[in-house]
Order: sequence, then C-alpha cells, then structure tokens
Amino acid sequence: MSAPSAADDTTLNRHLGPWTLTALGIGAVIGGGIFVITGTAAARFAGPAIVISFVISGIGCLFAGLCYAEFAAMYPVAGSAYSYSYAALGRSTAWFVGWNLVLEYLVSAAAVAVGWSGYFVGLLKSVGIVLAPTLTSAPLTFSATQGLVLTGALINLPAMGLIVLLSVFLITGVRETARANALMVAIKIAVVLLVIVFGASHIKVAYWHPFIPPNTGRFGNFGWSGIIAAAGLVFFAYIGFDAVSVAAQEARNPQRDLPTGILASLLICTVLYILMALVLTGLASYRTLDVADPVSFAVSRIPSLRWLSDVVEIGATVGLASVAFVGLYGQSRIFYSMARDGFLPPAFCRVHPRLHTPLIGTIMTGAIAALLAGLFPIGVLSELVSIGTLCAFSVVCIGVMLLRVREPNASRPFRTPFVWVVAPAGLLICLTMMYGLPAATWIRLGVWTAVGFAIYFGYGVLHAAQRPHWQSESAKISLGSSGAEQSLTGNSPTTQ
Ligand code: ALA
Repeated sequence: MSAPSAADDTTLNRHLGPWTLTALGIGAVIGGGIFVITGTAAARFAGPAIVISFVISGIGCLFAGLCYAEFAAMYPVAGSAYSYSYAALGRSTAWFVGWNLVLEYLVSAAAVAVGWSGYFVGLLKSVGIVLAPTLTSAPLTFSATQGLVLTGALINLPAMGLIVLLSVFLITGVRETARANALMVAIKIAVVLLVIVFGASHIKVAYWHPFIPPNTGRFGNFGWSGIIAAAGLVFFAYIGFDAVSVAAQEARNPQRDLPTGILASLLICTVLYILMALVLTGLASYRTLDVADPVSFAVSRIPSLRWLSDVVEIGATVGLASVAFVGLYGQSRIFYSMARDGFLPPAFCRVHPRLHTPLIGTIMTGAIAALLAGLFPIGVLSELVSIGTLCAFSVVCIGVMLLRVREPNASRPFRTPFVWVVAPAGLLICLTMMYGLPAATWIRLGVWTAVGFAIYFGYGVLHAAQRPHWQSESAKISLGSSGAEQSLTGNSPTTQ
C-alpha cells in the first residue's frame, strides 16, 4: 500500500481493494512473533504445546477481529481502536486506548527492530562479518528477582539503526508502494511456506513427546498454565491485523473491504502460525529454541536444509523491517488523530508543507522507538506490547456490546455474528492471556497507565473536545449514522 502522509486526509486515493488490504494485514502481522518469540515461548513456557497457545491466541484475535470489523465498517476513519473508543465510550476511554496503542505500534516497532537485529547479525555472520556482541544486544533487562539489571552489553546498534533509517523514509515521504509491500508480503509468506513444506518431511515425532511438558510447580512454567502464559506471549505474533483499519481512508469500499481484509489476514496467519509452530518444535528440541533466530537455527540443524537457513535469514530480515515500518507509520497516524482531537499538542498533527508528512510526530515516534530498541531485549518489549494491545482489544469487545445496546438501530455494514457470544468470549480470552503474562509486565502496564493519565489530566482534559474531530467538524455525522466517511471530506489538516 502507499504510506500516505497524515496530510492526505482530504486527498487520499481510494485505491485499496480487498486483496491489497489483506496483503497489508499480513504484511503488518508476520514478523518478530513467529520468527523470534515462538522459540522463546516454546523453550521457556509451553514446549511443543506452543501450538495450543497459537490456537488459543488465534481464537481470541479472531473474536476481537470480528468486533474490530464491525467498528471499522461503522467508522471507516484513521485512528483505529482509538477512534472507535472515542465514538462508543467517550474521551477518557479513548485516551486510555490511544495510550495503549502507543504500546501496540511504537513499542512493537522497537521490539520488531530488536528481532530484526538478531537475524541481521546472523546474516552478516554467514558472509563472514562478525559484529561485537556488546554492540548488538540490549544493555538493560528485567530480572524477576532483581528488577532492572545491566547485561554488560553497550547498545543494540543495528536495531537503533533500522528505526532511524525507517523514520527517515517516513519523514521524507518515501512511499511504500503497493508493489513493494506486496513483494515483501510474498517473500515472507514464501519463506514461511518453504519452512513448513521442507521442514515437514524432517520432523522427528520424538521431539513432540511430551507434547505438554509437565508443569514445574511454578505458574507459567510448562503444563496448562505455561500454555496460557505462552498464549499471552505469542499473541504478539498476531498483532497488526488491525492496521488494516488504519488504511480506512484509502480503501475503495471500506465498509465491505475492511472487514474482509481484517478477517482474511487473520485467518491466513493463524493457519500459517499453527503449521510453523508444529514444524519448528518437530525439527529441534524445544529446549534449544531460546535463541535470537530460532527458525533459521532449527532448519540449520538438518544438514540437507542448510540452504534454507540463509533463505530464512534473508526473508526474516526483509519481513521484520516491513513490520517495523508499518508500526512507525501507524503510530504517527494515531498521534496525528489524537492531536487533532486535542489530546496531544498540535505539533503532532502539523504537516510539513513540503514533505507532506507529520514531521514532529514522526521524529518523536522514531526517537523513542530507537531508544527502546537500543536499550531493551525483545522479551521485555514484546510483553509490554502484548499487554497493552490486549487492553485495547478488550475495550473494543466491550465497546461493540455497549454500542449494540445504546445504538441498536445504527447502520452496521458489517455485523459481528453472534455478538453476545463472540464479544464476551473475545473479552474473556484477552483477559485470560493478560492474566498469564508475568507480574512484572502488569507493574509496567500500571506505570504506563499512570504516566498516561498524568498527561491526560495535565493536558488532554484541558484541550480535548467532547467528540472526535471527524464527528464534530461535520454535522453530517452523528453516532450511528452510516455516513462517517463523508465527514472526512470536511477535514483540512493543519500545516506548519
Ligand atoms: N505481529 C507483529 C510481529 O510479529 C508485531 O512482528
């Protein structure tokens, strides 16, 4: 897809159809989760039963995705869950969700950059270039017993470099064309399929026994509690399908094609993930998978598949970079929407007159993401991403039910089927996955929320409007009308 600047509110081409939107979703989804976190989650929490974790997490996402689809069709505007919450639940909830979306987009871009660094370092090594480990790993991490600890490394330079490079692309308005995105998606899917197809014939069934390793006595350490804990971790792998909704203003027929794009990308990824998890844990003992590049590691253990290991490294390097790009792009778009509503200073929605990009928002996004990517390991970042996104998904599930009660007659081009089963079940699965995440992640979420509300009460509450800009700027829209799209034509972005 093209990555439009936020300036394009009034001028976006409606050129995305259901296939391109599905490709966009898959492009945003397949990345660090399957290429990196699956290994850690299998080695530390679930063993081969990581497959069950993927099923649980996939069902949770599918249910939340159905709720997303209803909202996306009702309100085809940029801002995703943040905009839906504003419309359905009011501004303080919208702020809470928007603040958590920072975790989903900005922090996940940082996490994916760290995953990218692992594969990039492996790729360089395979051509004889060895970077000093102190310059390619995180200097800080969290230990369950000691809190924040130093690892002895200095900085993850490749991860920071990737974020800086992608931010420069975004700032200068270099467009990720539909063809480039389609190519990256094709490479990623091809690599995943190659691993599944070639790996399947080398599976050693013995590695799957026991399929559910017995619990060690600690919650989350294998057994069923381990499966739940791992579901919370691999949830990261599914994040991104909602990025389809960010492209609302570029879709040819958003009310029909956004639900298609969201649900199709989710279904395709779920099937690929389950097969990939089966193959990965069948190629190597799950205990050995806690490495920076588990997929290429697993295939490189089979002598006749060594060639595939290089292919995986190249595919993962391309694929992860594209996910980080979408994360940074989505974040600048969400900051833009939040600033338009007065939650953030106007600098975040000012568009550079020549570059046609939201300069300050993109620089801030890139700077913070680069810092996080340089300092922290993927595990710490991805757990935070997962818990924040699960919070946002939970609110979307609640929002759909509330709106069905409050606005029963509103036009709903897509209706969540069996909403009174799907939405509560989606909520329950999201909450269960949150419960399975480590206590330290909850503490970090608490700190994140406290900082968020400090900003809200210090700034947002004084400046934010009662209604989102795309509703209040145009009298054409009222909650529940089917004409949300029309209001967009009334928007003219601020320029600096
Ligand atoms: N789902 C995305 C990934 O796995 C965030 O990289």
